[in-house]
Amino acid sequence: MMKVSKLSAIGGVRISDIDFGGDVDDATAAEIMRLYNEHGLVVVAGQKLSKTQLVEAGRFFGGTDYRPPADPGDPETPGMSIISTRGYDGGLTPDENEKIVGDINWHTDQTYTVNPNRGKLLYAVDVPDEGGQTGFLDGQLAYDSLPASMKTRIAGLSVNLSWDHAQNTIARNRAYRPNGEKSLAAGRFGDVAFPIALPHPITGEKSLYVPPLWAAGIVEMPGAEGRELLDELVAHATQARFTYWHSYAPGDIAVWDNWRFLHAAGGTPRRYVRTLWSVVIQGGPVMGRELAAA
Ligand SMILES: [Fe+2]
Repeated sequence: MMKVSKLSAIGGVRISDIDFGGDVDDATAAEIMRLYNEHGLVVVAGQKLSKTQLVEAGRFFGGTDYRPPADPGDPETPGMSIISTRGYDGGLTPDENEKIVGDINWHTDQTYTVNPNRGKLLYAVDVPDEGGQTGFLDGQLAYDSLPASMKTRIAGLSVNLSWDHAQNTIARNRAYRPNGEKSLAAGRFGDVAFPIALPHPITGEKSLYVPPLWAAGIVEMPGAEGRELLDELVAHATQARFTYWHSYAPGDIAVWDNWRFLHAAGGTPRRYVRTLWSVVIQGGPVMGRELAAA
């Protein structure tokens, strides 16, 4: 019988006593989807899955979606990727001089497109003795705790999420060298705009949607005023009281709602091996709009 408990101080749920590789009845599957929609962050403990079984487990969260542009994926198993301190991580190879491998700032996935994926499954295969946590930031909690005056101020404003801004940031802060480059290719995607107070397509709840990795500015407020407001919103959103850092046990699957939560990777000291298998949950709704090139 599936057990459900609270995951962390910011919320989320931990599910145990279930085997995603075995038979899961329809009522249990529906309850998992309900928990995901309500809480937006789910850790399923104690799994022992093949790659194919992990891809199939995407059905519990609305089905999978594999989009290759930013990630070549696992060559063996269509529909999943490997995030590893050995070999590649999303198509990037860690530099041999880097002490911490795989750290990345708060971000959302696929928000260089107007219809980002719903979420992702991260399955812990090799867990390091130190590091290797994934951070989760509840944008809904961050929005709800804004003063009413700020909610009014940001209503109708949108954030410019920029592929090139992210690649520039990564290139500055990190020693990845795929094929001699510091980051993924510039100019692969144009800038897109998302509402700063982003309404969730399913729940209707608003999230504060200012992922600092991507956020290059406020569309309606170019210049210093917009920059200052964006910095203030990022500082608000990234407070520890809205975030939870998950330390994996082998067999954990962490699943988050990419339309509500930001996530980050703390990185792993180079001497340890850390491997996650990753499956993308399908999106669909158009939530952003393309910005014309400047
Ligand atoms: Fe990510």
